[in-house]
Amino acid sequence: MSNPSLLILPGDGIGPEVMAEVSKIIDWFGAKRGLKFDVSEDLVGGCAYDKHGTPLHDDTMAKAQEVDAVLLGAVGGPKYDVLDFSVKPERGLLRLRKEMDLYANLRPAQCFDALADFSSLKKDVVAGLDIMIVRELTSGVYFGEPRGIFEEGNERVGINTQRYTESEIDRVARSAFELAMKRGKKLCSMEKANVMESGILWREVVTEVGKDYPEVELSHMYADAGAMQLTRWPKQFDVIVTDNLFGDLLSDLAAMLTGSLGMLPSASLGAPMENGRPKALYEPVHGSAPDIAGQGKANPIACILSFAMALRYSFDKGDEAARVEEAVNAVLADGLRTADLLGEEGVQPVSTSEMGDAIVAKLEASL
Ligand code: NAI
Ligand code: MG
Repeated sequence: MSNPSLLILPGDGIGPEVMAEVSKIIDWFGAKRGLKFDVSEDLVGGCAYDKHGTPLHDDTMAKAQEVDAVLLGAVGGPKYDVLDFSVKPERGLLRLRKEMDLYANLRPAQCFDALADFSSLKKDVVAGLDIMIVRELTSGVYFGEPRGIFEEGNERVGINTQRYTESEIDRVARSAFELAMKRGKKLCSMEKANVMESGILWREVVTEVGKDYPEVELSHMYADAGAMQLTRWPKQFDVIVTDNLFGDLLSDLAAMLTGSLGMLPSASLGAPMENGRPKALYEPVHGSAPDIAGQGKANPIACILSFAMALRYSFDKGDEAARVEEAVNAVLADGLRTADLLGEEGVQPVSTSEMGDAIVAKLEASL
C-alpha cells in the first residue's frame, strides 16, 4: 500500500515559519513511528500570486483534490492590500474551500493544563476542557437567496435568507456523528427551532441521521441557551453541531474559553472520497501575522495541533494525535512560552523553532 498523501501549503507571513516546525514533527513520525506520508509542497496566497499571477494555480487546486489531506499555514499580508479583490491572497483559500466543498468546519476548544490560568473563566471551569464545535460552512444565511438591500415604499430594507436543504443538514450531521464516534460519543445539536422553520427542519433531520448512530447520545439545545451553557459549564459538551451563523459565533466563543490565537487549530471536512477519507483541509485559525513575521516569534502550536487533527480525523491515528497533544501539554508544563503566551513576569520567551524542537523532544521522550 502506498503512503497517505499530504499537500503542504505554507503560504505567507508566519505560515512558512510555523509549517517548518510541523515538518519536523511529520519527519519524526516517519522515522520513529513508521508513519510515512508522501508530502508535496506548493504555493498559496500572496506567494502564489508573486509567481503565477493568481493566489491558487489550477495545478495546485487539482493536487488538493487528489491528496488525502491538505495542510495550510496562512495567507495574506500588507504587501497584497493593493491587489484587485479577484486575486487577493484570501481568494486562494476561499477557492480551496469552495471547490473541495468543505461543508463541515471543526473548531476545537481544548484547554492545556498549564494555560488554565490564561482563561477569562475560572480555572476549574476550563481545566481539562476538550470539546469540538462543528459549524456548517457552505450554506445558511451567508449564502441564501434572496439577499440584498432593496427599496420598499419610502425606505430601504436589508434582506438575508436562512435556507437549508435536507441534504445539506444531513451531510454535516453525518460528519458530526462520525466525529462523535471517534470522541466521547456525545453530540449536542444547536438551532433555534422555537422561532425558525429552518431550525425545525434542522432538528428533524439531525434526529433522523442519529438513528444511524445509536451509540451516540444525541441532545438538542436552542443556540442562545447553548451560548449560556458554554460559558457556564462547557465540560458538559463533547461535540456540538450547528449552522453557519450560530457556528460562527459559538466557535469563536468556545475557542476563546481556552486562550491564545497561537494555540487554535481547525479542520474543514467535505464528502468522503473513494478511500473513505473525507476531503480535508487543516489550518491554524490565525492569519499571517505580518507584525511578527520573519522574527522567529510565531507560536507554531496552532499549526502543529492542526496536523494532530489530521492524524485523528483523516488518518484514524487518534493515539498518535494524542501523543502530539500530550507533547504540547508537556512543553507548556515545563514553562516554555512563545511571546504570545507570556503572562507571568520574568519568563523569557522561546523562539518558533525552539518551541518546535522542544515538542519533538517530548515526542521522543514518549516512546
Ligand atoms: P492574524 O491572526 O494574522 O494576527 C492577529 C494578532 O495575533 C497579531 O498581533 C499576530 O501577531 C498575533 N498572532 C497570530 N498568530 C500568531 C501566532 N501563531 N503566534 C503568535 N502570535 C500570533 O490576523 P490579522 O492581523 O487580522 O491579519 C493579518 C493578515 O493575515 C491579513 O492579511 C489577513 O487577511 C490574513 N489572515 C489570514 C487568515 C488565513 O490565512 N486563514 C486568517 C486571518 C487573517
Ligand atoms: Mg468568525
